[in-house]
Parts: sequence; C-alpha cells; structure tokens
Amino acid sequence: MASSSSNMRLLQWCLFCVLLGTAFAQLSEDYYSSSCPQALSIIESEIKSAISKDTYLGAPLMKIHVKDCLFGGCDGSIMLNETGSFIAGNPKAKNFNTETGYEVIDGIKARLEKECPGVVSCADILAVVARDAVAKLGGPNWTVPLGRRDSDQALKVQLDSIAGILLGDLDTKIAAFNVLGFTKDEYVALQGGHTVGRARCMFYKKRIHDEKVDIDPKYAEALQANCPAIGGENNTASLDTTTPYVFDNAYFTNLINKKGLLESDQELYTGKRGKTDSIVQSFSSNKELFFEVFSKAFLKVGNMQIVTGTNGEVRKNCRVKGNNNVLQGLTDRL
Ligand SMILES: *[C@@H]1O[C@H](CO)[C@@H](O)[C@H](O)[C@H]1NC(C)=O
Ligand SMILES: *[C@@H]1O[C@H](CO)[C@@H](O)[C@H](O)[C@H]1NC(C)=O
Ligand SMILES: *[C@@H]1O[C@H](CO)[C@@H](O)[C@H](O)[C@H]1NC(C)=O
Repeated sequence: MASSSSNMRLLQWCLFCVLLGTAFAQLSEDYYSSSCPQALSIIESEIKSAISKDTYLGAPLMKIHVKDCLFGGCDGSIMLNETGSFIAGNPKAKNFNTETGYEVIDGIKARLEKECPGVVSCADILAVVARDAVAKLGGPNWTVPLGRRDSDQALKVQLDSIAGILLGDLDTKIAAFNVLGFTKDEYVALQGGHTVGRARCMFYKKRIHDEKVDIDPKYAEALQANCPAIGGENNTASLDTTTPYVFDNAYFTNLINKKGLLESDQELYTGKRGKTDSIVQSFSSNKELFFEVFSKAFLKVGNMQIVTGTNGEVRKNCRVKGNNNVLQGLTDRL
C-alpha cells in the first residue's frame, strides 16, 4: 500500500483534476432536454418502482455513483464487467461489479436505449439514480448537472490510494477529503449517507465482542445475536438502527447515543469534544442543515474527474466497454 505522503501527493494531483473538471465542465441541467427529454422521468419511475418493491435497494443505488466517482472519477467505469485485458486496466470492474443494484441500472439503460439510442451515458444515469434513490427514501432532492461521458480510464494507483485513506483514522480522512475540496462538515455529511444501508458482521464483529469501546452495551449485546463471536461473517445489520430505511438525521442522534455500528461511524462523535462532535450535534438537531450540506457535498462528488465533450464515449450497455457495436468489432478484424 502507498505511504500516506504519496497518497497525499496523489490527492493533490486529483484535486487538480477536480478543479480542471470544474473549470471546463460542460455539464448542464438541461443536457438531455432535446436529445432525450424523457430520460429523467424514465429513471425516476424505474427507481421508484425498484425501491417500492425492495427498500433495501435504496442504499446500494445511492452508493454506486459515489464509488464510481471516488475511485477514479464519475465515468461509469464502476459498471464495467471484467473481461480479459480489461482487468489490468481498470480494477474497479473486478472489485465491484457483482454488487446489489446493478441489474436496476441495466434495466434503466435498456429502456433508455430503446427511447433514445446511444444518448444517455452510464455515468449520468448513476448520478441521477443516486439523487432519485435519496429523494425516494425521504432525503433531500437536488438538480443534477448532466453531460458526463463514460470512460475506462480509472487508474489502479488511485484506487489503492483512496482505499488507504478510507482505512485511515479520522484526521487522515478529513485531511484527505479536504485536499479533494470537501470541508469537514461536508465529510461528516457524506458519512451521514449511512442513514440507510447495512454492513456485514465481519466489519463490526470486533467492536461488539472484543473492543466494546464507545458503544452502548445494550446495543452491542443486541447485535451479537446476529453476529456471533465465531461465524456469521456475512450477516448484516442496519447502519442506522433507528430508521434504517429512511433518509433522515437519526444516524447522528444514534452516534450521540453511542449507537454507531462501525468504528468509522462512531469516531465522528466521541462525547469528549472530538474534532467533529459539534458537527454531529448540529446535524442531529437540524435535519434541514444536514440535507443542505449533504446535497452540496454530493454535487461535488458528482463532479470528480468527469469526462465531457468528445472524450470518452456513451456506452450502449453499461457493462461493456466500447459502443458494444458487433459490426464495428468485426470490421476491425478485416
Ligand atoms: C456482466 O457480468 C454479470 C455478472 O457476472 C453477468 O450477469 C452479465 O451477463 C455480464 N454482462 C455482459 C454484457 O457481459
Ligand atoms: C426531485 O426534483 C425533480 C426536479 O428537479 C423532480 O422532477 C423529482 O420528481 C423530484 N423527486 C422527488 C422524489 O420528489
Ligand atoms: C461471504 O460472502 C462472500 C462473497 O461476498 C463469499 O465469498 C464468502 O464465502 C461468504 N462467507 C460465508 C461465511 O458465507
């Protein structure tokens, strides 16, 4: 794993990309208004029906976009299947493409290809899906700038660097996100996305059995039933134990009550004048403030290293690189 100073250097380079992306951004809210006017309503109706059938899908649908953006840019490459030489080029595919929610994206893409073939990028679909999932679960709603194009240029080194940072302590994460252009409040608000979703037992087992630091004892005990000291690694628990399927600010109130599921949740509130204690307190007592900061931070996420203009491509199938044009593939071989 890269050292933290080289992580920092890399992040500074990423910041340059973010700024560059902002300066030259050709994103606009009405990007598809003439080329595919139904695009947004199609996505919204698909998300509404998917989440009505299975509320559990809301969190993964929100997260695909975040992962796409954080790990090397919002270019839709998170959706790519690993095939042959592609694995070496973009480990994002290898790591994430079997996750929950991908079929919903495939369904949306298929419908959009019927309506307006080759127009709406996978990167944009993910950005709108995330917004719609948050809004459908009761969270804030915002207008999504559009016009991202798809690419497969994510670099392995960036992946390792971000992974290293996410495993670091609170100071490391705040500093790293700061380099990427996020304030401390925005970092905490983004963590508040854990107001929905679940985590696997293997990620909180130590915390509820061995360490028991900064955790309400009754809460820890209740979690043990589904996450025994031995086995059950893949069993899951809700990240927000109070309102697991509602996008609200209960996550922050839970932290004040020492009911954060993961160590990386609870570290945001120590009760000992920790670095972010006061931010957790203000989000806990003011849902509108949390929503406002979350929306702002989320829009920043959606602007990370975007590909626009004539760069990249618009994939026909989000899993497959290139325009998935069989004829093209054949003629290339003649
Ligand atoms: C991509 O991978 C998924 C999961 O392995 C598989 O179900 C799907 O058929 C693949 N799609 C394409 C177009 O290769
Ligand atoms: C979110 O806002 C958009 C307009 O920007 C609107 O079309 C959409 O219906 C809203 N979504 C929800 C769930 O309220
Ligand atoms: C947990 O899930 C992973 C796939 O995510 C699988 O490889 C592993 O075998 C599972 N472990 C158990 C104990 O079921």
